[in-house]
Amino acid sequence: MLKTHSCGELRLEHAGQTVTLAGWVNRRRDMGGVIFIDLRDRLGKCQVVIDSGRTADGFKLAEQVRGEYVLQIKGRVSPRPSGQENTNLPTGAIEVLAEEVVILNPAKTPPFLIDRDENVDESLRLKYRYLDLRRERLQRNLTIRHKAIKFIRDFLDERGFLEVETPILFKSTPEGARDYLVPSRVHPGKFYALPQSPQQLKQLLMVAGYERYFQIARCFRDEDLRADRQPEFTQLDMEMSFVSRDDVLDLIEALMIGMVQHTSLVPLAYDIFPRLSYHDAMNRFGTDRPDLRYGLELTEISDLVANSAFRVFAENVAVGKPVKAICAPGCGDYSRKQLTDLEELAKTAGAKALAYLAIHPETGEIRGPIAKFFTVEQLIAITERMGAGNGDLILISSDEKRIVHAVLGTLREEMGTRLGLKDKKELAFCWVVDFPLFEEVMEDGHYAPSHHMFTSPKREQIPLLDTDPGQVLSEQYDLVCNGFEVAGGSIRIHERPLQRKIMELIGFSWEEAESQFGHMLEAFEYGAPPHGGIAPGIDRLVALMCGEPNIREVMAFPKTAQATDLMSDTPSTVAKKQLDELQIALALRQ
Ligand code: AMO
Repeated sequence: MLKTHSCGELRLEHAGQTVTLAGWVNRRRDMGGVIFIDLRDRLGKCQVVIDSGRTADGFKLAEQVRGEYVLQIKGRVSPRPSGQENTNLPTGAIEVLAEEVVILNPAKTPPFLIDRDENVDESLRLKYRYLDLRRERLQRNLTIRHKAIKFIRDFLDERGFLEVETPILFKSTPEGARDYLVPSRVHPGKFYALPQSPQQLKQLLMVAGYERYFQIARCFRDEDLRADRQPEFTQLDMEMSFVSRDDVLDLIEALMIGMVQHTSLVPLAYDIFPRLSYHDAMNRFGTDRPDLRYGLELTEISDLVANSAFRVFAENVAVGKPVKAICAPGCGDYSRKQLTDLEELAKTAGAKALAYLAIHPETGEIRGPIAKFFTVEQLIAITERMGAGNGDLILISSDEKRIVHAVLGTLREEMGTRLGLKDKKELAFCWVVDFPLFEEVMEDGHYAPSHHMFTSPKREQIPLLDTDPGQVLSEQYDLVCNGFEVAGGSIRIHERPLQRKIMELIGFSWEEAESQFGHMLEAFEYGAPPHGGIAPGIDRLVALMCGEPNIREVMAFPKTAQATDLMSDTPSTVAKKQLDELQIALALRQ
């Protein structure tokens, strides 16, 4: 090694020892005759004193040194003079008095400061990711990521799981996004698909008798990107045989609690995860990924307004469309502009308009364009049901249930942010279970799977598949944390006839099912055990544990929202020769 110690490891007990350090110049201060350098490596920083009296050659070199130069320093560890200790730094009690200085490599002036946690334009950070990765924030995040994955591996190993790698070059797996395709040179005109997840392969491992499988698996999805979505991301992919839903939930809950306790910067809000049915989650929070750090729950007031003079509500209730509301405490003095902004937001979620009742902070007078349509008794009943008092704002939506939930779910999230209710540094996990097997019927009359087509319907509801498939509940479960879906999974179908039936309902012809999934259907005929699994998203979990708003902050080399890599300028064109070998001719649309 070019060094005997890391920069972060020296303490008072090393005083008197001669050490060699190697690292980057974090900061340099020239005091005339003495140069102070904070030398940095991944494990910390150490003050080096280069005194012309002790090393004239070293001093001469140190005069040329600038930030981010790579140095090797040999010197003696010495307690810092009294009063000059730095209690903020683990190595702050000592300094290294340099005897020899070697410049291992000079450095250009970096495009942003490495030693300070300043806001730097993200494109610049991504272009110079290797410099950004030197900064404390990303070093901390990647260390937490490493520890989380190590915890997962140890935890599962102790419980009899086997880590198995599955191919990256595979067949398209329908997880709802577009595939990334890879052309085959050997089989011109044919393509591999990068896996959206190892779903089929892990089920085939269950057929193979592996019983408890996991993998830290890379997944690829060509979909619209957001703060919590990247085109390639990492799952803890798992599958187990002979398990019930609760076996999977209990195991994952114990894993999450252990992982958070061992690695997270943000603590758990509680350590028994509530289990909500999909139905309850939608009714109470307007979403299937509820943020349980705060209340602001949706409350139905249909019965209170059914006979009111406000025709829209009365008519809606008469045809079974609900009237629901949320109460935003302390927002009763919102300005017209603030209310218009909320209405605009409600419209993005499908609302035609947004009704509200604002309660005056002092007088308790209730204002709002619809207030005049209600009797005093009706207004009292509404405010009582909503738990609203002076100074509060009641936001009301009425439409089809689906729209009311989308609108109030969106407003609840917004008010949670505005009222600072999400800032609490805690992780609020919950399970959402009992999802419908299918989402809405598609235009062609077919059903779309709510999770994926390998998810089992609830056993007792299988007969309903023939009469009312839309009503069938499934064995799907999602793990949610602070409003993000952090894991999804299900108990699977393990019988060929049932799998065929689901494929039919989804709209696969017999030929399509056989050509795309023949291998799965056939495998189910060779003694497939009952099985189920789940896939927690590592990036989302680590981002939450680091208190980061975006999963890019916990990935070494993430892509932009346009799915590009700014550092290497990827994707890029390729040489004509490469395309020729693949027998591919480009015919780009203008
Ligand atoms: P699902 O599609 O729900 O399930 O994905 C599981 C988890 O993966 C994470 N995730 C993502 N993270 C970052 N970027 C993305 N683009 C992205 N997409 C998904 C989420 C999500 O909860 N094969 C099934 C699992 C199973 O049934 O066992 C699957 O992939 O945290």
